[in-house]
Amino acid sequence: MALLEITDLRVAFDTPDGTVNAVNGVTLSLDHGQTLGIVGESGSGKSQLAFAVMGLLAKNGRATGSVRLEGQEILNAPAAVINPIRARRIAMIFQDPMTSLNPYMRVADQMAEVLTLHMGMGKREAVDECIRMLDAVKIPDAKGRIRLYPHEFSGGMRQRVMIAMALLCRPEILIADEPTTALDVTVQAQIMALLAELRRDLRMATILITHDLGVVAGFCEEVMVMYGGQVMEKAPVDPLFAAPAHPYTRGLLRAIPRVDHHGADLDAIPGTPPNMTRAPKGCPFAPRCDYVRDACLDARVPLVEYEAGRFRACNRRVEELA
Ligand SMILES: Nc1ncnc2c1ncn2[C@@H]1O[C@H](COP(=O)(O)OP(=O)(O)OP(=O)(O)O)[C@@H](O)[C@H]1O
Ligand SMILES: [Mg+2]
Repeated sequence: MALLEITDLRVAFDTPDGTVNAVNGVTLSLDHGQTLGIVGESGSGKSQLAFAVMGLLAKNGRATGSVRLEGQEILNAPAAVINPIRARRIAMIFQDPMTSLNPYMRVADQMAEVLTLHMGMGKREAVDECIRMLDAVKIPDAKGRIRLYPHEFSGGMRQRVMIAMALLCRPEILIADEPTTALDVTVQAQIMALLAELRRDLRMATILITHDLGVVAGFCEEVMVMYGGQVMEKAPVDPLFAAPAHPYTRGLLRAIPRVDHHGADLDAIPGTPPNMTRAPKGCPFAPRCDYVRDACLDARVPLVEYEAGRFRACNRRVEELA
């Protein structure tokens, strides 16, 4: 049984302008210790997929499908089920540290609260454990700094605090949503190296959401490419980079000259992402695709395993993509 099994996950939002179909039938599974990267342009549904798993969708959002944690259904689960799972079994790191850090509480108090609340630790024991975790994420003088407020840390240090907080309960699964986008390149590299180290030490399965294909190449075993809330391609990292099998993936890779070129934007493909209030009948990428044919506009293109471990949703044969 997979550690995490997501089946036909859909997320829709009610808005005054109609329904926004943010995630349109995503299926994936994650095993213990596995690393999966999710890439795709802004608005492709990456974050909402993660929020649905965590039970953190906005009030106007609803999720359907299935998310199973070792067989247990957790999608839309009541608070009594999902609260203990959050933090303890599945933790999330957000792009903006201030979304999960309370600016009015000392770091010591908010970190310790995670352990007193979820793990039933006493305050003193909890603070000691927090200091150990801040040490682990390489905050210098953790013992002194844990008394500070979040704004007294630099951006990079705040991100480390947030990572430490996410890892306090030693979760089996870490979902990191753009964990380094707000940081400069040197700090980005340090944080990713740190995450890789912690991931190995704690043997966590990790879902890394990022715009940065360079980061995916360095960190993940497998990549899932999303567009318009659907999976366009999924494959182990090396073959995907060596021979992308979907026109969208090819476009993404062409948009950066080298895979170690950090910080590159993915928006160099002509055209703009789809308007998600009208879920396309066919392939969401069809309007921007050089290889489009009628069939692509008429019906959804299924994700097919065309080679062991390699999946693509495209009506063209791989050889046809020049
Ligand atoms: N509360 C909401 N109400 C309506 N639409 C929403 C809401 N939250 C998100 N969306 C829409 O859902 C779609 C997917 O958003 P999502 O945040 O998952 O994108 P993303 O792939 O994470 O993009 P980015 O790379 O910019 O973070 C977008 O079109 C977004 O505008
Ligand atoms: Mg996002």
